Amino acid sequence: MPSPAYDVLIIGSGAAGLSLALRLAGRARVAVLSKTALSETNTLYAQGGISAVLDAQDSLESHIQDTLAVGAGLCDPEVVQLVVSQGKACIDWLLERGVPFTEVESENGVHQLHLTREGGHTHRRIVHAADATGRAVETSLEQHARAHPDIALFEYHNAIDLITARKLRLGEQRVLGVYALDSRQQRVKTFRARFVVLASGGASKVYLYTSNPDIATGDGIAMAWRAGARIANMEFIQFHPTCLFHPHARSFLISEAVRGEGGRLLLPDGSPFMHRFDPRGELAPRDIVARAIDHEMKRLGIDCVYLDISHQPAEFIKSHFPTIYARCLEFNIDITRQPIPVVPAAHYTCGGVLTDRHARTDIPGLYAIGEVACTGLHGANRMASNSLLECLVFAKQAAEDILRQLPGCPDPPTLPEWDESQVTDSDEEVVVSHNWDEIRRFMWDYVGIVRTDKRLQRALRRVELLKQEIAEYYGNFRVTNDLLELRNLVIVAELIIRSALARKESRGLHFTLDYPAPDESQPPRNTVLSPEPVPPSGQGQPSSPCRP
Ligand code: FAD
Ligand code: SIN
Repeated sequence: MPSPAYDVLIIGSGAAGLSLALRLAGRARVAVLSKTALSETNTLYAQGGISAVLDAQDSLESHIQDTLAVGAGLCDPEVVQLVVSQGKACIDWLLERGVPFTEVESENGVHQLHLTREGGHTHRRIVHAADATGRAVETSLEQHARAHPDIALFEYHNAIDLITARKLRLGEQRVLGVYALDSRQQRVKTFRARFVVLASGGASKVYLYTSNPDIATGDGIAMAWRAGARIANMEFIQFHPTCLFHPHARSFLISEAVRGEGGRLLLPDGSPFMHRFDPRGELAPRDIVARAIDHEMKRLGIDCVYLDISHQPAEFIKSHFPTIYARCLEFNIDITRQPIPVVPAAHYTCGGVLTDRHARTDIPGLYAIGEVACTGLHGANRMASNSLLECLVFAKQAAEDILRQLPGCPDPPTLPEWDESQVTDSDEEVVVSHNWDEIRRFMWDYVGIVRTDKRLQRALRRVELLKQEIAEYYGNFRVTNDLLELRNLVIVAELIIRSALARKESRGLHFTLDYPAPDESQPPRNTVLSPEPVPPSGQGQPSSPCRP
């Protein structure tokens, strides 16, 4: 029995994946794969909000200029225009789906959306749901997706690899489906689809310290690379300046909106320092704030700096930042009275699978939307709260493009089932856990906020060795979630290191002591890496068609 064919298979159930599914439903048969529970996404943890021009004092032009300035010469101006101009429509679309954004009552008694501020924005333009915007968005989208008969949801299904015509020697290149590990049944399934959309999020788990949940292992980037798609700008990893520093507080972010509402960064002796690095102080773009903190921590040999909002009234703090207030209190930090210990951590992957304005990748039928993609919006640095907006806009772009093509697109052929005939269960899982730790540690130490060619070369030597070891292990043993993620992490690490080595300048999020300034001698350029041509598969391990 061939597996059923879907019109569109979406890998990922965050803001990008679920909004695409909802835009397609009613006009296409859609399947959504999610690596764990449906809502366990980066989206769920988003705090600050979604940028959109809604204030009478603000303008699209101002949002565009702020985005271009933060992107340090590498944003695609047409894409910036496209995304920014759809801000209000996207917020309206979410309001229609019941997302409970925070409102304020104006002087004449009218309720309107409250807008907060974040780094790089010259106006108040962040729509939010207190400090848990992502939870409000994800929960509403999830409710709608679960209720829609056209959307088949596959939770705990870990996509392993894209199935392409070239890999199967079936003529012209096109994506045909996906192999995915059903991790509850421990069985690999074959999904056929006319279109496949990567909405699988970012890759910040490749760093030891990150604001991201465990799902963020760059799987979509690695899958696209293995299938033959180009990947761009991977050196631009955004480190969020303020994650809670506490031995038991894993990955907890202290929103930039805390600084937007007056929070000050302080050294342990209580003195402010951001004015020494940028006239915008605490509201300078993230790269500048993160580097300033990193610099002060290294200069003084301290474990963290402090973020203080306690000068604001306690009621204001509790109503604007209820999640942060409650979480910090669990660690005996009362933010209405005490400063919060904070450190930078890997937060956002600006680069990714190269796409055009319709979210198309290099592989016919394959799209990429959300954090997995490199659309040209962020350039060398993403401005706060532009990410959720990008997810929503490119979901719409992809939906429109797919729906235009769907009528003329034939069903994919029957695909070979996953072949496990030549592998066994692993007898040394320690290789997987050891390599996970090793990658994340050397990426943090050698490929972090401040880089040098020497450190990058060191990282490259290690990643090459690990790649071989992991490929050998993968060829011999049955797949597990940890092994699949490790196989992706090592590719993502290599792409980041190679992209960083290729950029002989400092720009945006990429800062290297060897070339500490932007190269003004030539126009700014993107770093685009092309994979080796995909070899058609022969028989046997590890290159069998169903065990690429
Ligand atoms: P995600 O929401 O990360 O979803 C990825 C999905 O892909 C998940 O469902 C996952 O299970 C699935 N997946 C991954 N790999 C596989 C696989 N192999 N097989 C099957 N499924 C897979 N941005 C803003 O604009 N504003 C903010 O206020 C903001 N705050 C943030 C706060 C935090 C703590 C973090 C971590 C990020 C924040 N961001 C913010 C960034 C923003 O949340 C993300 O960029 C955005 O949510 C990404 O959405 P996405 O749909 O692309 O991916
Ligand atoms: C935050 O709330 O600080 C995160 C905002 C973002 O990443 O866009």
